[in-house]
Amino acid sequence: DGVSKIREEELTPLVEEFYARVRADPALGPIFNDAIDDWPEHLGKLTAFWSSVMLTSGRYKGQPVPAHLKHKARITPALFERWLALWVQTTNDRMTPEAAAALQAKARRIAESLQLAMFFQLEE
Ligand code: HEM
Repeated sequence: DGVSKIREEELTPLVEEFYARVRADPALGPIFNDAIDDWPEHLGKLTAFWSSVMLTSGRYKGQPVPAHLKHKARITPALFERWLALWVQTTNDRMTPEAAAALQAKARRIAESLQLAMFFQLEE
């Protein structure tokens, strides 16, 4: 499958390129630029996240749901669509078709579960 073709060394430049595009995006950029002070740290965290997700490396130890709930007032389902569109473009540009498809499928599933947590909460 696509997963076995992804190497750890490819994730760092992929994540860097993705967040460069996110920061330049008129809709997404301001949210990230306001929230994140230490970009090298954020990129390291997100590289560890993708390494854990795709390579089951266990390198990421964090809690994505509370991290996004903090920004609930600014995040909408339409922004998730924009995030995913940029992820599709970046993975298609940088990865083999198989790896890109695997990275896109994972991102869609995680985006779904983040949105369930953010927008369909029964109580705070
Ligand atoms: C962290 C925004 C979608 C994975 C963050 C942070 C922001 C953000 C602002 C920093 C949180 C903070 O510490 O203040 C967004 C927006 C999204 C989006 C606007 C879509 C509209 C996603 C998706 C994924 C993801 C789809 C995964 C596939 C992460 C991870 C972190 C993070 C792993 C680090 C959480 C931690 O601190 O451990 N995101 N995000 N995000 N995001 Fe997203």
